[in-house]
Amino acid sequence: MCNCERLGTKEQVEKFDSLLAENKGNRGNIMEVLQKTQGIFGFLPELSVKMISESLGMPESEIYGIITFYSQFTLTPKAKYNIDVCLGTACFVLGAQAVMDRILEKLGVEVGQMTSDGKWIVTSCRCLGCCGLAPAITINGEVYGKLKPEDVDKILDSYVD
Ligand code: FES
Repeated sequence: MCNCERLGTKEQVEKFDSLLAENKGNRGNIMEVLQKTQGIFGFLPELSVKMISESLGMPESEIYGIITFYSQFTLTPKAKYNIDVCLGTACFVLGAQAVMDRILEKLGVEVGQMTSDGKWIVTSCRCLGCCGLAPAITINGEVYGKLKPEDVDKILDSYVD
């Protein structure tokens, strides 16, 4: 039984507890347990891997081997919207850093840090493959180009939930 608040909400922890109880000592179910755990938390928290290891009787190293082998699994939380800001040469010379600064200022986060509501995460990349649209960003894969810092608020505000 885990009452660990570090793991997630009470509801998530309860679901995870019953999942572990159902699969206690059954290492043959590791794939299913990992899939369901990710379904509960949205990713695989480090602590959940430790608990799965103890419950199923399987070394953590073996579990991490599986997690890193299959691309369906992720060890990092995913936000609802991922803003990828291109800081490649074409974008950079046309002012990408100022666009990035405005995004970070508006959301109150650093690069790689998720907003506390889980809605946004900002990452950077070296080229989005659309240099003609520099400076460019993508939000969950949708491209926004020829940006100025003053365009940022309107774009982000259009993602209403
Ligand atoms: S350098 Fe930004 S899209 Fe290519």
